[in-house]
Amino acid sequence: MTTELETVNDWRVFATDHALNSVALAGDTIVVTWSDGRETAFHRFFLRDNCTCSQCYLPLTREQLFEITDAPEDLAAASAAIDAGGDLVIGWSDGHASRYAPGWLRSHAPDAASRAERHAARPRPFIWGSEYADRLQSFDYADIMADDHTLWTWLGALRSSGMTLVRNVPLAEEALLAPIARISHLRETNFGRVFDVKSKPRADSAAYTSVNLPPHSDLPTRELQPGVQFLHCLINDTVGGESVFVDGFAIGEAMRAEHPEDFATITTTPMAFWNRDDRTDYRWSAPLIALNAEGDLDEVRFANFLRGPIDAPAERMPAIYRALRLFQAMSRDPRFFIERRLAPGDMWAFDNRRVLHARREFDPQTGDRHLQGAYVDRDEINSRWRVLGRELGEPC
Ligand code: OGA
Ligand code: ZN
Ligand code: ZN
Repeated sequence: MTTELETVNDWRVFATDHALNSVALAGDTIVVTWSDGRETAFHRFFLRDNCTCSQCYLPLTREQLFEITDAPEDLAAASAAIDAGGDLVIGWSDGHASRYAPGWLRSHAPDAASRAERHAARPRPFIWGSEYADRLQSFDYADIMADDHTLWTWLGALRSSGMTLVRNVPLAEEALLAPIARISHLRETNFGRVFDVKSKPRADSAAYTSVNLPPHSDLPTRELQPGVQFLHCLINDTVGGESVFVDGFAIGEAMRAEHPEDFATITTTPMAFWNRDDRTDYRWSAPLIALNAEGDLDEVRFANFLRGPIDAPAERMPAIYRALRLFQAMSRDPRFFIERRLAPGDMWAFDNRRVLHARREFDPQTGDRHLQGAYVDRDEINSRWRVLGRELGEPC
């Protein structure tokens, strides 16, 4: 059976599996009963706030004009009915009239069952450990460039596992800009639109030497860390210099399950990160793991080589150092990391606000090594993925 869809004028589509059976007024709410027996009480201000008539809503931009504070405090529904087309129609006490499609109402219903359903259906990250080495999501450059469905799948993989490999990227400087242009624009930084990772005599970051770079996110020194990092290998002839990746969300979830006290410390204690040279001075402080309002893991922020001294009350130091030492120990634990040597033409694309990356020490005397990197913010990945999904008829 195919699900009938209704298109509302903000691009989204809603399932119309559930019809409205009846409606009644009850105090501050308008209560609807659905064809499956569920009841939802909508607050009067919620419905008034979401009127999409052409007075309340600008059709051209699909944005709200009406401000809820302009409704009378005692606004009430004077009438509520289900019309012949199955929509809910409300006549308000101030004379305004509104209409709501059942698919939209069901998708925004605030009753406990509907909210629990939406919570369960929310996209959740695919969390991985060392076993991911054999299943790494890999894509071919030519397919990404030519085929929108492959592009959509690649961006979907970046959203769910946060860790992908692109193969057969041309061996030319700035070749990584072509697949990035398929997505959106770059996030430029003080290290350039494109940064060159090679051992440099006047290095302004440990990254531009040959030392071991322990698991880190790039630019934790910024209020907003770059979302997705692209690292394209042009030359990798040296002894050493292997790439290592850890899913920071796997560490976070393991900490939450196995060491809840340390997890509480790591998600609430701000840590300072600094990057300075003769022309720049970047600093930011935030917890190593950030949770969203629902308590889900949202972001991991860490680079030991950029870390400043901890600013916390003396009596908190034992707990903070216990949690920090555990976090670092876990980021080295073989159950979590994958290790792989980049070959010329390979390009890593990974969520820099989730997946920590590392580079083994290399010996610059043994050969050449040249990588090029660039960043794109998460918002661009998400927006492009949604619009491609619209065009391809995929859920978004
Ligand atoms: C960096 C980095 C990885 C590498 O430049 O921040 O992580 O393999 N480089 O050199
Ligand atoms: Zn209106
Ligand atoms: Zn890095």
